[in-house]
Amino acid sequence: MVHLLERGPLADESLRPIMEGGLLLQGELLYRIGEYSDLWQEAETLQATIIELTSDFVALPGFIDVHTHICFAGSRAPDYALRNAGKTYLEIAEAGGGIWDSVQQTRRASPDELTRLTVQRANRHLQNGVTTIEVKSGYGLSVAEELKQLRAIKTADGQTAADLIGTCLAAHTLPHDYDGSPEAYLAEMAQQLLPLLKQENLTNRVDAFIEQGAFSAEQIAPYFAEAQQLGFQLTVHADQFHAFGSRVAVAVGAASADHLEASGEAEIQLLAQSQVVPVALPGASLGLGCAFTPARRLLDAGASLAIASDWNPGSAPMGDLLAQAAILGTFEKLTTAEVLAGLTHRAALALRLTDRGQLAAGLLADFLLFPVADYREILYQQGQLKPAQVWKRGHCVYPSAQKI
Ligand code: NIG
Ligand code: FE
Repeated sequence: MVHLLERGPLADESLRPIMEGGLLLQGELLYRIGEYSDLWQEAETLQATIIELTSDFVALPGFIDVHTHICFAGSRAPDYALRNAGKTYLEIAEAGGGIWDSVQQTRRASPDELTRLTVQRANRHLQNGVTTIEVKSGYGLSVAEELKQLRAIKTADGQTAADLIGTCLAAHTLPHDYDGSPEAYLAEMAQQLLPLLKQENLTNRVDAFIEQGAFSAEQIAPYFAEAQQLGFQLTVHADQFHAFGSRVAVAVGAASADHLEASGEAEIQLLAQSQVVPVALPGASLGLGCAFTPARRLLDAGASLAIASDWNPGSAPMGDLLAQAAILGTFEKLTTAEVLAGLTHRAALALRLTDRGQLAAGLLADFLLFPVADYREILYQQGQLKPAQVWKRGHCVYPSAQKI
């Protein structure tokens, strides 16, 4: 496939698949991509191992999930049932369920247990083609417990072939056991937690949930200012139920603004005129039974668009990124190119990663082989078509014993 634009609408004609193609790898990188007939001689000169595929496959870059909360313990099945019985997400949270429930269950888990659960979910994602996974904390909500989560994410990164990218979400909600104001809590996190994250090299990203029942734009401002001073990249849970957060994301120059289900025309225009990457989270819309992110309007306004799973125990328990992206495409009328770019090239942009997201020489050899001849089959099968092979950093990681 050719280089895709970073923002705005993408027609499927902009995808020009290489027929009879090949990939030449060197170590963990892609060395050359082209027609097989052009590549094989070079491969022989380099004495490369040649793997010839005798049936039809479509190769895509490994998917990048830019927004997950997979470092959690326990279940929120009762919340899900309550929502379906008519209670809202915010009502459940106010009654002590919601995020606070997961915080308590996650605090009870040992670091080893939390690591094990994170690796297990990351490996399920990897098998489905997700080779890079952002993972947020935010179920600790104290200095010690946030550290426990972010350390577990780092340890888990060493135990799965997927790349895990940690993000500090200490600003998820005010913990019920905190004896003080939201401002005091955020000041404590900024002063005590953020410098430790730098010291231990646990993450360079900071996220905040700007919403009724979480934090206001005014409360977040000094916290974000401190985080930026320390060199953290920012991202925002924005406009999920009320259009509060995207304005903050644009004002602070965040890498991405995620959710946006409640964004209106003003927010769409603001985002489209900024460098902030909007991130649609169809899994949260499906989990909560609410509107999808206005993805079509964002693209038409000239914005970029990444698509992520938001995999979490509350609003998005499904965790199937490809199925969710396919469904978003159907409801929002996104082209195949726009959906695939949202999972790869434009997702890399949302994390400001320049070493992945495309099949291009010099980038990481993270790619998927789907067992079909026509790339349109992939979204058509709405997540049921799984990759036959997943390659991560130059290694076939699924199936681990390579069979073709
Ligand atoms: O992205 N909106 C806030 N945070 C998560 C949900 C977390 C939870 O419910 O546990 C989200 O939807
Ligand atoms: Fe989220």
